[in-house]
Amino acid sequence: MDDLPLAGKIALVTGASRGIGRAIAERLARDGAKIVAAARTKDALDSLVTALPGSGHRAVTMDVADAPSIERGLDDAGAIDLLISNAGIAESKPYDRTDDAMFFRLFEVNALASARLARRLVPGMIARGFGRVVVVASNAGLSGYSYTSAYCASKHAVVGWMRAVAHEVARTPVTVNAVCPGWVDTDMAGDAASRIAQKTGRTTDDARATLAAMSPQNRMITPGEVAHLVATLCHEDARGIHGQALALDGGQLMR
Ligand SMILES: NC(=O)c1ccc[n+]([C@@H]2O[C@H](COP(=O)([O-])OP(=O)(O)OC[C@H]3O[C@@H](n4cnc5c(N)ncnc54)[C@H](OP(=O)(O)O)[C@@H]3O)[C@@H](O)[C@H]2O)c1
Repeated sequence: MDDLPLAGKIALVTGASRGIGRAIAERLARDGAKIVAAARTKDALDSLVTALPGSGHRAVTMDVADAPSIERGLDDAGAIDLLISNAGIAESKPYDRTDDAMFFRLFEVNALASARLARRLVPGMIARGFGRVVVVASNAGLSGYSYTSAYCASKHAVVGWMRAVAHEVARTPVTVNAVCPGWVDTDMAGDAASRIAQKTGRTTDDARATLAAMSPQNRMITPGEVAHLVATLCHEDARGIHGQALALDGGQLMR
């Protein structure tokens, strides 16, 4: 294990109970990191931690929409070298039916949580001489999409936050980046396909095909592909990649 690229590193992965976060936890553990897996669903975290390769992994119950819950979770987590702020939620409505409450819900989880986590953890990374912050944003943080104004705004917000913090910590041993996937084959994409099917009367398979067709590669990204990019950004030799919002969407946003 000692010669693995992330040996000796401790990674906090939020939203680790399923989907992209689970794949990131599995990948970072395969690369030698010890995982602190965070989410609200304790059973799913416990079964993940048991199944991860290596030893010393832990589950921490944390609701990233709730500041005291984040503080309690971080008290349990201890020192962290790799912060992977992945937990996220999606909701869709036309702009004129998107109310304040929906904005607040999405901003708290998709944007503010990263700021709350980083301001507690990054000073310790700087003091110990190494750190990585990777936010799982979205290509909706780089472009607009119909019926998702609050989601797009929250993801643009976290990308803007990441860019500002990257300036502040550029002279330290910490890097800060965002990965911006297109549609990824998880529950979140499945729920979006179901909502489209319900609203349009099309089949869920048809709706999924429409989402996949938004990529020039005509497919959804896999959780493992997102995990691969996150792991790469965490490696020592990714030191020069800093302040970047990296699209991972099969070329959807290429010019
Ligand atoms: N799937 C896509 O197409 C796609 C595309 C681009 C970007 N993304 C982004 O990728 C990230 C992961 O998405 P996913 O597709 O894996 O979604 P998912 O399958 O719905 O999983 C979401 C994860 O976030 C956790 N979570 C949600 N609200 C939370 C809260 N208040 N506190 C703590 N944890 C919370 C969930 O755990 P619990 O329910 O157990 O708390 C779960 O582990 C999100 O930020 C999402 O916006 C997804």
